[in-house]
Amino acid sequence: MVPPPVRSGVGDLSVTARSGRARMHRDLPSVPSFGYSDMPYLGATIDGRIGEPTTFRYRNELLRHPFAADIDTTLHGVSESYRDRPPNSLHLHGAVTAPDSDGNPERLLMPRVGTAVHHYPNRQEAGHLWYHDHAMGITRTNVYAGLAGNFLLRDDHDTGDASNRLGLPSGEYEYPLILQEKIFTADGHMSLRSTPVVPQGRWEGGAVGDVGMINGTVWPKITVDRGLYRFRILNAGSYSVWTLHLSDATPMWVIGNEGGVLDAPVRVRSFRIAPGERYDVLVDFSGLRPGDTVDLCNREDPPFQAAMLGEVRMPVFGRFVASSRTGFRGRVPSRLRGRPGLPDVLPPIATATSVRNVTVSQPYALRLPPAIMSLNNLRYSDPQLEMPRQGTTEIWNIINVTPDPHPIHIHLVTFRILGRRPLRTVEYQAAHPQPAIGTRWAPAPDRFYAGPSLGPAPWEAGWKDTVRTDGGTVTQVVVRFPAADELGFDPDATFAADPLAGTLDTTGGRSPAAPVSAPPAPMAPGTTPAEMPSAPAPSVTPPSDHSMHDGMHPASGPHMHPSTLQGYVWHCHILDHEDHDMMLRYRVRA
Ligand code: C2O
Ligand code: CU
Repeated sequence: MVPPPVRSGVGDLSVTARSGRARMHRDLPSVPSFGYSDMPYLGATIDGRIGEPTTFRYRNELLRHPFAADIDTTLHGVSESYRDRPPNSLHLHGAVTAPDSDGNPERLLMPRVGTAVHHYPNRQEAGHLWYHDHAMGITRTNVYAGLAGNFLLRDDHDTGDASNRLGLPSGEYEYPLILQEKIFTADGHMSLRSTPVVPQGRWEGGAVGDVGMINGTVWPKITVDRGLYRFRILNAGSYSVWTLHLSDATPMWVIGNEGGVLDAPVRVRSFRIAPGERYDVLVDFSGLRPGDTVDLCNREDPPFQAAMLGEVRMPVFGRFVASSRTGFRGRVPSRLRGRPGLPDVLPPIATATSVRNVTVSQPYALRLPPAIMSLNNLRYSDPQLEMPRQGTTEIWNIINVTPDPHPIHIHLVTFRILGRRPLRTVEYQAAHPQPAIGTRWAPAPDRFYAGPSLGPAPWEAGWKDTVRTDGGTVTQVVVRFPAADELGFDPDATFAADPLAGTLDTTGGRSPAAPVSAPPAPMAPGTTPAEMPSAPAPSVTPPSDHSMHDGMHPASGPHMHPSTLQGYVWHCHILDHEDHDMMLRYRVRA
């Protein structure tokens, strides 16, 4: 297997979503799929450069949907016509861009109606971005059919070639691994159905794959030279969190997250990766003999509710086979940052102006499979938006009251994980009963903690745009919302242009925070899950209760936003969940 071709991301690029046919394994037939540009499945790796803008000229040439029968027309915005004319919205995940270039789920491009133009200034940190479809209500079918690709953003240190100052493997020794999970029918077609409990054509809450894939190939054999590799790993799967490890227990060095490199490499024998997350990982194959094999494996079982429906662990993605060639001879660097750009720690934590409580829940929780997934007990169409202010730093308490993990992604920003703190969910919900869906619900969790905060895992110590929030846990992140003058565009433009926007209530959200003691302290490098300390001290003292607000905007103005008001979104990156309705808009106010 070879990785996807590389295209330059400097200047104008045409990106076209097309229908194709893909053969994912030599024993499988070629089956209908979607891909970008010349690929029948997935898209090229785009190589972007800090300071050099990228423009996507985006076209939708899609024909009948391979998952036409799975499209659920009861979901928000979805119409019958989508089966034959699937709309698209191209999102570059991790890009700092204006709302009208962000791939808003309701800015749909119908097939064969012209070209959409998206501008990416690339005035941000180097890192691992990826592009994928984001069309409201059918993202899961479109990405599963193949609409995803990598976008690697480079800078002077991480140039992507042999001149990189970090001494990292480059060229053929920098290898993207797009990990996915698939279900196949007995006749070898891709299937989105993992449970017979839900009739076809109805949203089922999560398609848990039982077959692993890398870069569009089921169980590939990847020939590797005997030396160091840099793997750019993306979980582009629909549903599952995986604990990745190598079959021979070879150590791996995690060197980066979504938003660029860590301070220093972290040696691990396994690490967890949730949908939407990216990890930059070095593996040393120099000890292998020609012909030796190492498998890339998963040892995480499906989460609670999926297991109840009979899902089983998906054990393996693919196999590395050592060649007789000697590969990259460099060593794992001892330091990575220590250069201009985003600081190692986040000074503005000390200046966090507010704590925003938000919830991840499954209203009507007693139904299995679930009826709907929700953030803040709202639907996508509900008008109560989070409205952080430009140029401020906030702590978000992401309160997951479900039993399962949900990876939460916030568009536009990167953040640091402060920690995860177990919640006495039953007491929390009993004290603050969850109202019917449509009323914002995100009570303060303070009185309901079951223990101290655990710092981020060593491999999640860097800049993130997607965080796994575990069931029954409050995940704390610190996030800065940039201002228009730093960005070079107005992140609130689509709202500011609207006459109604001035009448929105803006009282929520600003209050002085108690002093904060220290930057986030990741667990010690070299810690593996088995060795993790059970309870490191929380690294940050959150502001006290009275200085908190719940992010809600009380009723003192019209709350109905016309659907043309498209700021950014934040959502669960389980694709089935963002479709219904674990995704909300948010607005970065001036
Ligand atoms: Cu990768 Cu809003 O998505
Ligand atoms: Cu979710």
